[in-house]
Amino acid sequence: SDTAADATILVDRRDDGVAVITLNRPKALNALNLQVMREVAAALAELEGDASIGCVLLTGSERAFAAGADIKEMAEASYMDMYLPDWFAGWDAVANFRKPIVAAVAGYALGGGCELAMMCDVLIAADTATFGQPEIKLGIIPGMGGSQRLTRAVGKPKAMDLVLTGRNLGAEEAERAGLVSRIVPADDLLEEAGKVAATIAAMSLPTVMIAKESVARAFETTLAEGVRFERRVFHSLFATEDQKEGMAAFIEKRKPNFVGR
Ligand code: CAA
Repeated sequence: SDTAADATILVDRRDDGVAVITLNRPKALNALNLQVMREVAAALAELEGDASIGCVLLTGSERAFAAGADIKEMAEASYMDMYLPDWFAGWDAVANFRKPIVAAVAGYALGGGCELAMMCDVLIAADTATFGQPEIKLGIIPGMGGSQRLTRAVGKPKAMDLVLTGRNLGAEEAERAGLVSRIVPADDLLEEAGKVAATIAAMSLPTVMIAKESVARAFETTLAEGVRFERRVFHSLFATEDQKEGMAAFIEKRKPNFVGR
């Protein structure tokens, strides 16, 4: 559970509609082992069903968001040790989560840490953040979606550079390349990312979920299909109370009071 003494994550449900998940394996720079994966997936499953939560904020420590998958856990594994349990597939729980996830990244986001950050929807980086896919130096390749999501985020030339050389990227270069949403001073990271998450959580929940699904579609389908999908779900929002409220509030020059349906 969230509060187990040996838990590798901390979960804080705030009253502003934001749930903060903090990766907490400080001695291993938040290396992502199976326990972290299972605990993150279990936390998200609970938050999916919690109507009071409109956005998740995922973060690590000042030193590391996550320094990658746990190398010590994998070092001696065989092909079948990886293949039969479909190693890393549990992380699909993050990619498939239906509410927005804001990643607040300080320090190392390497390998699986970079891949986990890329599964999130809004990526706020501290000026201390370091991104990279160093797997090649271990004789492996990214295995949590990095070769795909990084390429879609930054384009082929930069993705090839990073995946083939394993070099790191500072926050500035990451922002220029389109890997991160915003950079903030390290001291302000949690406050600024928290504000972004709270802003999202204050919107209509179904609208936010549909907006996320629409943008995510752009990564998975053709432009024509994506535009068609967007138009259909756009129409569907006119079945919500929140659309009526949002437009009425604009016309009446007041703040909307979204009810989440
Ligand atoms: N797995 C397991 N343990 C890790 C780890 C990882 N990915 N990253 C760091 N650690 C551990 C270190 O082994 C060390 O433990 P001990 O104190 O028991 O020796 C502790 O965390 C602190 O790390 P360092 O002493 O190395 O700290 P540093 O400041 O000198 O270096 C670092 C920091 C550059 C991030 C360095 O730790 C490092 O290079 N880590 C590995 C990065 C990496 O290769 N990530 C990719 C992993 S594979 C992967 O992610 C596959 C995938 O696609 C999903």
